[in-house]
Amino acid sequence: MKKLETMFDLTGRVAVITGGTGLLGQQHAEAIASAGGIPVLADICLEGVDPHSREWKERFGDLACAIKADITQPDSVKALLADVLARYSRVDILINNAANNPKMEKTSDVEFSRLENFPLSQWEADLSVGLTGAFLCSQIIGSEMARRRRGVIVNVASDLAVIAPDQRLYRKPGLPADQQPVKPVTYSVVKTGLIGLTRYLATYWADSGIRVNAISPGGVYNNQPEDFIQRLTNLIPLGRMANANEYQAAILYLCSDASSYMTGTNLVVDGGRSCW
Ligand SMILES: NC(=O)c1ccc[n+]([C@@H]2O[C@H](COP(=O)([O-])OP(=O)(O)OC[C@H]3O[C@@H](n4cnc5c(N)ncnc54)[C@H](O)[C@@H]3O)[C@@H](O)[C@H]2O)c1
Repeated sequence: MKKLETMFDLTGRVAVITGGTGLLGQQHAEAIASAGGIPVLADICLEGVDPHSREWKERFGDLACAIKADITQPDSVKALLADVLARYSRVDILINNAANNPKMEKTSDVEFSRLENFPLSQWEADLSVGLTGAFLCSQIIGSEMARRRRGVIVNVASDLAVIAPDQRLYRKPGLPADQQPVKPVTYSVVKTGLIGLTRYLATYWADSGIRVNAISPGGVYNNQPEDFIQRLTNLIPLGRMANANEYQAAILYLCSDASSYMTGTNLVVDGGRSCW
């Protein structure tokens, strides 16, 4: 009898993870490595990254690598693909994970996060990484996988692809209404747009052996202020935010043959927040 766990096996498969050196990118990379895959951590920032260190090899495996890439630039994404193919002669998985993530609870540029004042330059910068970057990586790396007639794309969206931000979460006592911080409009637009991109690519490449799905994670503990955590927790049926490693199993599921009959959908992993 075939063991079910073999369906999660990624032995030898190469996975490009954009935003790979960030908080969740590293978790995705560990998940790939734990199933025998080879993670490529592609990021505009490789600060503090040492692929020769013992810690790196323990977390991501001997064959893993980090490649500097700016996913907003087509030439940079083409160079990333060329580098991956030169190193491994294959690419099997693309995780579109990079984003400009506003740290709302820490921001000091409060007035600029509000819709009325939101700078066009910020709108363009956020869409450029979150949406254009995912489009370019899909176009360039996804096309290579389609040419080989095998591959998986996972778009990292958010619970805010499914629900609107609850701006009460970000309120600061004592500030007038027009100066209250808010989750920027771009976050909702980028994340919702990724769901559209997911459906488009899933149907476009359905007969080319490429499956495309999204994952919508909820908020992760990351040293947020206690009052913010309390307010957010009150909106989550499971009564807590997520630990950073709690999306690994879902990522592995979407990247592996375990999800072989799944494409064009959005896997919501949010502690139940969006059903309340
Ligand atoms: N952390 C959360 O609570 C949470 C919740 C839901 C969804 N998400 C989503 O998960 C993904 C990862 O989030 P995170 O918390 O790890 O964020 P993070 O800020 O730690 O990581 C994002 C990474 O993207 C990289 N990046 C930015 N611009 C880039 C570019 N032009 N080219 C290449 N790389 C670029 C950054 O250098 C960074 O390493 C994001 O899409 C985010 O929106 C996060």
